[in-house]
Amino acid sequence: QDVRLWGGRFADGPSEALARLSASVHFDWRLAPYDIAGSRAHARVLHTAGLLTADELARMLDGLDRLEADVADGTFTGTVADEDVHTALERGLLERLGLELGGKLRAGRSRNDQVATLFRMYLRDHARILGGLLADLQEALAGLARAHGDVAMPGRTHLQHAQPVLFAHHVLAHAQALSRDAERLRQWDERTAVSPYGSGALAGSSLGLDPEAVARELGFGRGSAANSIDGTAARDFVAEFAFITAMVGVDVSKLAEEIIIWNTKEFSFVTLHDAFSTGSSIMPQKKNPDIAELARGKSGRLIGNLTGLLATLKALPLAYNRDLQEDKEPVFDSCDQLEVLLPAFTGMVATLTVNRERMEELAPAGFSLATDVAEWLVKRGVPFRDAHEIAGECVKVCEAGGIELDQLTDEQFAKISPHLTPEVRAVLDVHGALAARDGRGGTAPSAVAVQLAEVTADLVRQ
Ligand code: ARG
Repeated sequence: QDVRLWGGRFADGPSEALARLSASVHFDWRLAPYDIAGSRAHARVLHTAGLLTADELARMLDGLDRLEADVADGTFTGTVADEDVHTALERGLLERLGLELGGKLRAGRSRNDQVATLFRMYLRDHARILGGLLADLQEALAGLARAHGDVAMPGRTHLQHAQPVLFAHHVLAHAQALSRDAERLRQWDERTAVSPYGSGALAGSSLGLDPEAVARELGFGRGSAANSIDGTAARDFVAEFAFITAMVGVDVSKLAEEIIIWNTKEFSFVTLHDAFSTGSSIMPQKKNPDIAELARGKSGRLIGNLTGLLATLKALPLAYNRDLQEDKEPVFDSCDQLEVLLPAFTGMVATLTVNRERMEELAPAGFSLATDVAEWLVKRGVPFRDAHEIAGECVKVCEAGGIELDQLTDEQFAKISPHLTPEVRAVLDVHGALAARDGRGGTAPSAVAVQLAEVTADLVRQ
């Protein structure tokens, strides 16, 4: 039996070469459960429109139930000859219900509105899965912040020592980025809650079907597509999803890079748990941060998926074009990659050991309290321009003598500037400097506690 949905006007079947090029069933099979859900909703509106009797509807729904069970346990699968998931499932239905009844379901729908709808449903489910995985990672970061709330570390700009910050402040900065990514997923979902079903091939249907009822049944809170041409041709929802997953990849890669650096002998800020690091086949002593490196590597792949997809969409005329079959693999891949990466990455973050002494020791190094000296002078009425010069002079004297700022004597301070009275020593203490930055968003323990509470509250809201 010829399974093609379009054999009528053709004298010959497709060439082997065309069939192989055209086939998408090997990657779009994952849409099968959504296709069957769509078919149920479609059968109901065919019935409402008087195109299926109550008895036919009941037998149709029963056939779809049986097909769904056979798909779920692998008894029924698509083949290359089926071309795509939609055609394969139609064959499955025809096999179960016979040509007479099975052949009625196709009225008023096209694979064009089907695939646009099912792809939305699939991605909306995966947006929720990714949101959960992001929340787990945020929770792991919040856990680090909670466990090491009082530890200072060197804060860096240009990767150079800049000013000391709380370790908790630093890891919560990563959590902030991830919480924006989670928000992007929620906002994307809200925009994507529109069903193209009923748009047909591009022009809508003449059969008096109710697309709003289909949208409701399939969980599209914003109803059906306002324009059937746009409904079948628009893929900005795919591009936006690919952007969000690429952004997650980039955000995770930044933390990954820091963990790789922190885990070096030279930094020794963190140690990875054995269960979340790997060994070397030749060097017995090695313990490698492979999870972080894979995170860094996969971010490139996620960016590639986005740029490839945008190139596919560029300059496509309306409405559906077969180019659009190329929209699925990159974004399925982005879901797959993040869904396998994030649990491992979160495990690595949740189990890493923080070398508090090492971070504390390096926090004031590299004259990172020079800004505090300048701001201390400003509070005593010295113009910042002069204060900056005076603090810079302190650094110069220290560098010449091979000492740190707090090792300058009272005499040396006084010689640099009469404004530098011994009281300046109060700000040459790392924790004093941290505590002073107590404005919103700052690195003082009190300000960081607020940030931790906000991240925690954000996790509860999700
Ligand atoms: N498999 C196609 C896709 O993923 C849907 C089928 C539409 N095919 C067609 N010839 N109109 O885009």
